[in-house]
Amino acid sequence: MKQEKKKVLRITDTTLRDAHQSLWATRMRTDDILGIAEAIDNAGYYALECWGGATFDVCMRFLRENPWERLRRIKAVCRKTPLQMLLRGQNLLGYRHYPDDVVERFVALACENGMDIFRVFDALNDPRNLETAVASVKKYGGHAQGTLCYTTSPVHTVEKYVELAKAQEAMGIDSLAIKDMAGILTPGAARELVKALRRAMPKMPVEIHSHMTSGMAAAMYLAAAEAGAGCFDCAISTLSSFSSQPPVESMLSVFESEGYDCGLDRAALSKINSYFRELKAKRQPASSRGVEPVDAGVLVHAIPGGMISNLRSQLAQQGALDRLDEVLAELPRARADLGYPPLVTPTSQIVGVQSVLNVLSGERYSMVTDETKRYAAGYYGATPAPIAPKLRKRLCGGLKPISCRPADLLGPGLEKAAAELPPNTIRAEEDILSYALFPEVALGYFKWRKEGGPIPADQEEAANAAPAAAPTAAAAAPAAKPAAAAKGTPVLAPLNGTFYRSDAPGKPPLAADGAQVKAGDAVCVVEAMKLFNPIKASASGRITFLAKHGAQVVKGDVVAAVE
Ligand code: CO
Repeated sequence: MKQEKKKVLRITDTTLRDAHQSLWATRMRTDDILGIAEAIDNAGYYALECWGGATFDVCMRFLRENPWERLRRIKAVCRKTPLQMLLRGQNLLGYRHYPDDVVERFVALACENGMDIFRVFDALNDPRNLETAVASVKKYGGHAQGTLCYTTSPVHTVEKYVELAKAQEAMGIDSLAIKDMAGILTPGAARELVKALRRAMPKMPVEIHSHMTSGMAAAMYLAAAEAGAGCFDCAISTLSSFSSQPPVESMLSVFESEGYDCGLDRAALSKINSYFRELKAKRQPASSRGVEPVDAGVLVHAIPGGMISNLRSQLAQQGALDRLDEVLAELPRARADLGYPPLVTPTSQIVGVQSVLNVLSGERYSMVTDETKRYAAGYYGATPAPIAPKLRKRLCGGLKPISCRPADLLGPGLEKAAAELPPNTIRAEEDILSYALFPEVALGYFKWRKEGGPIPADQEEAANAAPAAAPTAAAAAPAAKPAAAAKGTPVLAPLNGTFYRSDAPGKPPLAADGAQVKAGDAVCVVEAMKLFNPIKASASGRITFLAKHGAQVVKGDVVAAVE
């Protein structure tokens, strides 16, 4: 027998995080994980991705679990394989920038509770948004993995990516991930990018993360391996493919056939897969059954599958599902206008909703979300390409653009968060972090923890299981009263959603009832598509509000009148 030294490749398992976030609406429970955690720990993976992204939020919001407890319980069983989390840089696990003290304390507690590898990324690849997170990971003894969010555009060249990677190398990252969240990285582009990175920083281990959305990821993984990438993200076959990662069992065969040793135990993988195959019947939501195995459209429009399903449900909420094709055509234009951001949370949400508004309003950028405004003004970081000055001015409205690191504008946040919490709410410091990240969700969870009650995810399952359930629209709160009697110029709801008088929870109303307003002033808000959309006064004069704060409104409802 020919004795040949085998080339070593490693595999990171994403089953416990990205895979169920991609396929099961993040509904895997901690007990589900613990039922198989020991076998996963013994399978020979490089790392287990089990925390981050939506898992933290969904734990509290739908599963009524403490995400910190989940981490501790996994760590108690998985003693051999490092645990990995996905961290959105200065956004941590949320959708906005957090102050440095919150970022540092979050990372410290994650390390203390058993997290080993932190994959730190920024949606805009702005190195300044990674600094504090990477420094904190290093300070508390974790492995800091830098990330390049992969996208294509005239400004995303191989040279640019190498430059961005160099900036992260200078911060002291231990390894580098190429994050192909849309599954658009081709084998040829991967080979070129990995080679350039290996040349520029020969000692830096490179890991590849992709999705099977377009069907290319398995071929791309092989090309990247040949070019020198050393680790690949895969999911167990039952939770793989579609918009999830490539199947680990298949990739193992592919890599082995090329002489690579991945160190994985095939018998263990088989046992793990049997377990998840049984679990699938309970956890896969009805909405993801029967989806197309490959979304070939991604090869054309490069819009991640998860985003398209979001756009679809946003349009459905607005009763405008028939306009999906227009939105898909608008989206690349809006992305170009906005400086070609990679489409990943939170930029995917910002560009997606703005595209929907651009189509529904009939005039591009006549309605601009607060998030788009803040994005254009630099509050999410530097855009990959500049926004045309005239458009930028229009998008910013009255908001003053910034060029500094966004978090430099934030004062310390931990003490403030602690002070906001009602007495006797928290049981440990971690609760303060949960609250700082997801205030309303955490309060809902803390209340449930104290008082008990039904678990939202269980109700969802019952609803899914019930055949021919009544349409849920009937359960919505009554709509705002059509104000036939109102005098003056009506102010109309521009979208279906929830009506608010203020633009953030706990803030005073934008305009008092009876106040003098100027035409064009933002006077109230409709929350739709998870974002706050300001409503402008239709005329100058005295405003009378007709819709109640918190009411469900339908497009065209009269929410106020100005006379
Ligand atoms: Co992913």
